[in-house]
Amino acid sequence: MKTLTIIGARPQFIKAGMVSHALRRNGIQELLCHTGQHYDDNMSMVFFEEMGIPQPDYNLGVGSGSHAEQTAASLRGIEDIILKEKPDLVLVYGDTNATIAGALAASKLHIPIAHVEAGLRSYNRTMPEEINRVLTDVISTYLFCPTSVAVENLKKEGITKGVYLTGDVMVDSLMHFTKVAENKSTILEHLKLEPKSYGLMTIHRPANADNRGKLLGLLNSLEKSPIPLIFPIHPRTLKLLSEFDLEAHPAIRPIDPVGYLDMMWLEKNAKVILTDSGGIQKEAYLHQVPCLTVRPETEWVETVEDGWNTLVNDRIEELPELIQSPPISIRNKSHYGDGQAAEIITGILKETFS
Ligand code: UD1
Ligand code: UDP
Repeated sequence: MKTLTIIGARPQFIKAGMVSHALRRNGIQELLCHTGQHYDDNMSMVFFEEMGIPQPDYNLGVGSGSHAEQTAASLRGIEDIILKEKPDLVLVYGDTNATIAGALAASKLHIPIAHVEAGLRSYNRTMPEEINRVLTDVISTYLFCPTSVAVENLKKEGITKGVYLTGDVMVDSLMHFTKVAENKSTILEHLKLEPKSYGLMTIHRPANADNRGKLLGLLNSLEKSPIPLIFPIHPRTLKLLSEFDLEAHPAIRPIDPVGYLDMMWLEKNAKVILTDSGGIQKEAYLHQVPCLTVRPETEWVETVEDGWNTLVNDRIEELPELIQSPPISIRNKSHYGDGQAAEIITGILKETFS
C-alpha cells in the first residue's frame, strides 16, 4: 500500500510526526509532500529535526500568498505528484490550505482520502479553517475523528460512512515529547523563568492578528498583566504588529517561535496560557494548565465544558484579573484518547488495504 501524505503548516508537522512513524513501522509505504506553506526554519525544519520526521519526498515551495494562490499552487503540485506516483491513498491533516488542496486533488483523480482530525467544527464560516474542514470532510473516504463530539458533528451533516473515533494524534506527540523535553529543554533557564511564574501567549488568527483595533486592545489590557507573558510570535503577527506600528508593552516578552520541545516545556510550566491557537488550547488541557482563549468559540468544546478553558473574546479588559486567578478545574478526562491514535489509524488503514 502506498500513501501520499500532504502537510504544509506547523501544526501539521506535529500531527504527522507520530503517524508517519506508525505507518512506516507497519510496512505502509509513505511519500511525504510538504507544500512549503510554512518555510522559516523555526516554523518547519525544527519540527522535522526534533521529531525525527522523515525528509519530505516533495516540497512544492508554495510559500506565502493569498488563499487562492496557496491553494491553487498546492493543488497543481499535488495533482502532478498523484499522477506520477499513483498512490492508493492521500492522507491529509487538520484544516489548512494544504488540507483542502490535497483532498481536492485526490478526489478529482478518484483517489481515496483519509482525513486526520475530521469532524471538528467551530460553526464560524468566517474562519478559513472551517471552510477547509467542512469541504474536506464531504469528500473524504476515511474520517478519523479525534473526539466523540467530532463524530456527532459529522452525523448532523449526514456523514456516517467511513467515520472512525481514533483519539487525537496530538496526544501521541504530546505524551512522547513532553518526556523528551523534560530532559532536553533548557528554555526556562535560558529565559530565566521559574515554573508557574509566567504566562505563555500566542496569537495568530486573522480575526485577531489582522485587526489593528483588536491587537491594540489586547496589548493595552496585557500591559497590566501581574506576571510576565512569554510571547513566541507567529510570523504573521510579527509582520502585522510592524505594519500597524504597534509594540508590545514590557509585561510581554516577545521571542521567536520555538521548537516543539521548548514549547511543550513552556506550556507545562506556565501558570496560564493565553492563545487563539487550536492546538495549544488542547495542549493546555492535556498539561492541566488553565487556558484563556481569545476567540468567540472553539472546536475543542470539551476543554471549556470541563472548566479548563475560558473564552475571553469579549472580555479583553478582564485579562489581567483572569491571568492573576485563572479558572481551573478538577475535571480532566481522556476525551482525546490515550496516546494510541497513530497506531489505531494505521491499523484501520492496514486492515482496509490488505
Ligand atoms: C496557517 C493556517 C492556519 C494555522 C496556521 C498555523 C491556512 C488557511 N491557515 O495560518 O489554519 O492555524 O497556519 O500556524 O492554511 N510567514 C512567514 N514565514 C513562514 C510562514 C508564514 O514569514 O514560514 C508569514 C508570511 O508573511 C505569511 C503569514 O506569515 O503571509 C501567514 O502565513 P500563512 O501560511 O498564510 O497563514 P498562517 O497565519 O500561518
Ligand atoms: N508550537 C510550537 N512553537 C511555537 C508555537 C506553537 O511548537 O512557537 C506548536 C504548539 O505546541 C502546537 C502547534 O504548534 O502543537 C500549534 O500550531 P499553531 O498554533 O501554529 O496552529 P493551530 O493549532 O492554531 O492550527
